[in-house]
Amino acid sequence: MTYSRIVGTGSYLPEKVLTNRDLEKMVDTSDEWIRTRSGIRERHIAADGEVASDLAYAAATRAIDSAGLTPADIDLVIVATTTPDMVFPSTACILQSKLGIGGCPAFDVQAVCSGFVYALNIANMFICSGQAKRALIVGAEVYSRILDWTDRTTCVLFGDGAGAVVLGASDEPGILASKLHADGSYSDKLSVPGWVCGGKTTGSPFVQMDGGSVFKFAVRVFEEVAHEVLDAAGLTIADVDWFIPHQANIRIMEASARKLKLPLDRLISTVERHGNTSAASIPLALDESVSAGRIKRGDTLLLAGVGGGFTWGGVLLRY
Ligand code: ACO
Repeated sequence: MTYSRIVGTGSYLPEKVLTNRDLEKMVDTSDEWIRTRSGIRERHIAADGEVASDLAYAAATRAIDSAGLTPADIDLVIVATTTPDMVFPSTACILQSKLGIGGCPAFDVQAVCSGFVYALNIANMFICSGQAKRALIVGAEVYSRILDWTDRTTCVLFGDGAGAVVLGASDEPGILASKLHADGSYSDKLSVPGWVCGGKTTGSPFVQMDGGSVFKFAVRVFEEVAHEVLDAAGLTIADVDWFIPHQANIRIMEASARKLKLPLDRLISTVERHGNTSAASIPLALDESVSAGRIKRGDTLLLAGVGGGFTWGGVLLRY
């Protein structure tokens, strides 16, 4: 039986930092409102001309390096993104070209903030079925491009960044259980309801959000999906060393940890410094914690994503 496990991680944050104080000069908001409602103090913003594949490339090369591999060793590229470089080709194909590794399958996954969890699940199936041996999975986002910077209810919450992992074939299980879900009847709760049509953008090209609905839904499904993957693996919450939920909002994350009866010191949170980086948030938090020596080989990690769609999912893994 072939299993998959994470053999390398990497991440990248654009140089420019936008603080809550900076936002006070742009919209009618305050550092205090943003911190108390979301836990965010600052976020990174991509430079003009810096696109998702640039962020993805930086994170990917670090992940490949940390696995002790070269790009030529990669035989599957999946990019989870809501902010692709262009309508097509996929950001994964553009990344593959930047890495100089044509030939292997490369595609994007669009599940908004659950994108990384979706992509990890898909890559796991490729590896367990023998179709790939070393998969590169990247979450990369430039949300700054799809925010209305005059709308204080959304622009204060998001940031740009990328995180990546290399998932390798293994004799020992790394990924222990994984579950994905979606319910498209919630599609109007969180969306960018615009499209390219007849040479122009039709609808709105900016994030629209019913914050209250997102909040309640996220707390509920984080708890549900956590139990689903724990049950599937025959483990309990006491076996989880680290909980890495999608970094949307510290209140959602802490409420979920409390419902799961998980001590808050086992909750990984980077939202204070990154904001919500959508599909990039989980691999960014993972790589930072691995680099800092907090997450160690053999630790049991619970990853959980929720995002527009709504989509949601969980992955339980032994790092
Ligand atoms: N600065 C100051 N005031 C603001 C701001 C702001 N940036 N944004 C909204 N307000 C105002 C509102 O206009 C409202 O004013 P009013 O009472 O005069 O109408 C007031 O603050 C309270 O607004 P609420 O929406 O009730 O604030 P709430 O406490 O619910 O917090 C928030 C809003 C932070 C969006 C919350 O609903 C939330 O956390 N939702 C989850 C959404 C989320 O995290 N989205 C991320 C993307 S989704 C995902 O990643 C899965």
